[in-house]
Amino acid sequence: MGNSIGIVILAAGKGTRMKTDTPKALAMCAGKPLVDYVVDAAIKFAKNSSLKAEIGVVVGHRKDLLENWWNTHSMKSSMKIAWQKEQNGTADALKACFNDLPQFWTYDYTLVACADTPLITESEFNKLFQMMKENPDLVGVAATFETEVPTGYGRIIEGGKGFKIVEEKDADENQRKIKEVNSAFYVLKTSHVKSVLGQISNKNKSGEFYLTDLFQHEYSVKSVKFKSETPFLGINTLAQLAQVDQLTRDKAVQKLMIDGVRFLNPTQVYIESDVEIGVGSVIYPGCTIMGKTKIGTGVLVESNCFIKNSSISENAEILAGSYLEGAVVLDNATIGPMARLRPGTEIGPDAKIGNFVEVKKSKLGRGAKVSHLSYIGDAEIGENSNIGCGFITCNYDGANKHKTKIGSNTFIGSDCQVIAPIEIGNDAFIAAGSTITKSIPDGAFGIGRSPQVIKEGAAKKFLKTKKT
Ligand code: UD1
Ligand code: CA
Repeated sequence: MGNSIGIVILAAGKGTRMKTDTPKALAMCAGKPLVDYVVDAAIKFAKNSSLKAEIGVVVGHRKDLLENWWNTHSMKSSMKIAWQKEQNGTADALKACFNDLPQFWTYDYTLVACADTPLITESEFNKLFQMMKENPDLVGVAATFETEVPTGYGRIIEGGKGFKIVEEKDADENQRKIKEVNSAFYVLKTSHVKSVLGQISNKNKSGEFYLTDLFQHEYSVKSVKFKSETPFLGINTLAQLAQVDQLTRDKAVQKLMIDGVRFLNPTQVYIESDVEIGVGSVIYPGCTIMGKTKIGTGVLVESNCFIKNSSISENAEILAGSYLEGAVVLDNATIGPMARLRPGTEIGPDAKIGNFVEVKKSKLGRGAKVSHLSYIGDAEIGENSNIGCGFITCNYDGANKHKTKIGSNTFIGSDCQVIAPIEIGNDAFIAAGSTITKSIPDGAFGIGRSPQVIKEGAAKKFLKTKKT
């Protein structure tokens, strides 16, 4: 036998049992669409095997959403796409692949994987392929496992030269008692697929073309029984999605701990599977870390922080209750407690953002400080500038957003507002309580408050005493 394989990932199903309109393949599990987990495993298998391999993903239901997924996918160049027009079953989905990607007929083997089993890894693919390779007489192998609750799975019926698979809906009472079930991962000789696929009928309870019909008692096929069912846990319902989502996140936390990340309470965090955290970082309980977040080494994340699609460099500190989305925090910076960094924010090295400070689409230079109760929007603040308590960039005029630029080594006193667009130079000083409407040059002093008035003895006019 030769050395080439077509890997087909079936992802066109509607996911009727999920009760949502999103195609099941795009249902999010620990921050990633279900199909992406299977794509990752297939790419690893293809890369690490000595085979000539090509990956095809069969999609269908909700073309708009799937096209968007496909067009923006970071691994787009590693796979091809095929469209199944109507969801007429798994055998029909495989046919759609050969129709759209006819080069798949030329590969010696065809590996079929389902998109709704995100815990699958390269290792199961390897084991299955090995079995096929070592038994040249076989035309197909299927991964199976034993489960106490076989509900929903196709049952393995031993007999003839190997076995056949009977779907739950079509199984009789005795067949339903069988605990060895089909995982829906197969390696087949492409020649076997070619001779049988076109003959599969849809005369069954679902009226669908079943791929499982490639396995019959008269064919030389073998089931490879895996010890653990976990890698094959399939998702058909939202309850199963919740269960597998939890397992996926637990797996991510276990891996991070092996890699040297300290979780003070590993069971009380929500960490999505693509999150990266460096050695020596400490994560307190109650943190949610999502999306493409990258945290460097030696970072402290205190309790109840929410961090999404952000990048945090080494030795930074994110103190309790902070909310970061689409933000960049550079080394040794301190954020919070209870700070909010919105998309497009970059906090420079050694800079400090204190409590109740909101920063949006702004860049702070090295060592800049905004320590208390402030709003910084559409701004640039230079190195080592110090912004006092209660500062506001008035960036919005009701229709448009305007920019504020503050230079380096500038001091802004407490309770100031600057009306953007505005520029404040380097080494400038703005007196507390100022409303600044005109730009201030380098080295200048700015003050914008009404002069103070003192009226001797006049307080009694204003002091009120309670009548008893
Ligand atoms: C399938 C198997 C069943 C096995 C189970 C394991 C068949 C007939 N049955 O059942 O024996 O125990 O997986 O999880 O194959 N899909 C398409 N186009 C379609 C229909 C489905 O691409 O027209 C895709 C789905 O997106 C999914 C996969 O095929 O990724 C499996 O389909 P699903 O409907 O979930 O099959 P099960 O009923 O779980
Ligand atoms: Ca399924």
